[in-house]
Amino acid sequence: MTDPRPLVRSLSAPRSSVERVLAQFRALRRRLRERARALALVAIVFTVLWFAGGLSGALALTSFLLMAMVVAGREPAESDGEKERSPDVEPRRRGGSGGGNDREGESWRLIVDAVPDATVALDHNFNIIHFNARLEELFPNIRVGQPLSQLSRHPELNAAVERAVTANQQVVVDLYERVPVERRLSATISRIGGREIRRGLPFLIACFRDLTEQDKLAQMRADFIANASHELRTPLASLRGFVETLQGPARDDPEARARFLAIMSSQANRMTRLIDDLLSLSRAEMRVHLPPRGIVDLNEVASYVAQALDPVAASSKAKIAVTKAEGPVRIRGDRDEIVQVLQNLVHNAIKYGREGGRIEIAISRVLDGSPPRPRVLLAVADDGQGIAPEHLPRLTERFYRANAQASREKGGTGLGLAIVKHIVLRHRGELRISSTLGKGSTFSILFDEVGNRS
Ligand SMILES: Nc1ncnc2c1ncn2[C@@H]1O[C@H](COP(=O)(O)OP(=O)(O)OP(=O)(O)O)[C@@H](O)[C@H]1O
Ligand SMILES: [Mg+2]
Repeated sequence: MTDPRPLVRSLSAPRSSVERVLAQFRALRRRLRERARALALVAIVFTVLWFAGGLSGALALTSFLLMAMVVAGREPAESDGEKERSPDVEPRRRGGSGGGNDREGESWRLIVDAVPDATVALDHNFNIIHFNARLEELFPNIRVGQPLSQLSRHPELNAAVERAVTANQQVVVDLYERVPVERRLSATISRIGGREIRRGLPFLIACFRDLTEQDKLAQMRADFIANASHELRTPLASLRGFVETLQGPARDDPEARARFLAIMSSQANRMTRLIDDLLSLSRAEMRVHLPPRGIVDLNEVASYVAQALDPVAASSKAKIAVTKAEGPVRIRGDRDEIVQVLQNLVHNAIKYGREGGRIEIAISRVLDGSPPRPRVLLAVADDGQGIAPEHLPRLTERFYRANAQASREKGGTGLGLAIVKHIVLRHRGELRISSTLGKGSTFSILFDEVGNRS
């Protein structure tokens, strides 16, 4: 069987040489105490041999010392009377006596290392005696021998540790940290084995969980629901208002009725669009981890979308131009999803582009990355108003709009680019946005071409 100790040492912080010597001394003292009976027997035998057997004093003493070294130096499992003991009985017996041998001393460290949460073991002075790799990720400056108060200056953590000494149960405390990064941690502190201090065992164990990511996700979900209901409530409120007007004051006004019905129809369309976008987004999110199985030719999709959106572009007097790459440009993908990506991008280019402007869909083969590798690029460029740099990093967030008023006026829901992002993620592609105010914007997606794996 392999000895686990070297592994423990490599995971934990290195012990100082003084600590190591002290540990060896303690182990020797323990062994001598445990084998006191055997040593006494050896001493009696050599004393008798000295007095009655004619052995010289010096020889008797040397032989006794040699025998004592052999007895004290043997591992406990090999010592007489312990050979038959099953491994699970041993730790309990030693734990009960408050002692512990080297293996026991190391085995709790292995348990701390295996805990999936960030865990630190403390002695009765609240000094750190061991910690696992997860804890080091949370507190990179942690060192064995440090007091816990140096790990985190949070007064609540130190108060919780003090409480854990006398409490009959685990103490849980939430810690909000602002520097170096804002985060929320939950710490659970447990006392090990009653109030007495057990030699060879930690006094307290503290486990930390980073709840920052979980909080962010909960916040995002709440924001999403609030945004979705807000987006639906606005047209719904408008519809209800018109219905009431038509039932009341405008009941007998055919001209007002025709005008209101046209607005009601556009509001109903807006709600339908929003629900369709929400469904598309949730489908895209659900499938993000399932790689697509089909093969899509980007040249063909570009021609298809340009043709489909030509009438919409014509209504803004804009022109869509397609620049294809040579031959079919095949990627692994879901055609409907790639069509939706391109439609959303071209639709944005029409909506936020210049009236009478030019929209270009370009497919090309490029060398990208470092080291450079061949990829295919699908780009949609417009010569419109452009996007201010501060908006660029947030454009793909759900309901984020650079100009909310303009987007709503053009019937936008603010979900188009969020859908694009999720579909691109599913296709293992990379979305890049570049824009110059007053000159226009380019939305590019890099894909891997099928058959080109270098
Ligand atoms: N080509 C572009 N030029 C300028 N701004 C753009 C362009 N494309 C997107 N934007 C900005 O990004 C925001 C988010 O775009 P997105 O497509 O997600 O939503 P939307 O167009 O407002 O609504 P939807 O696409 O859901 O109908 C837009 O509101 C707009 O402010
Ligand atoms: Mg859009």
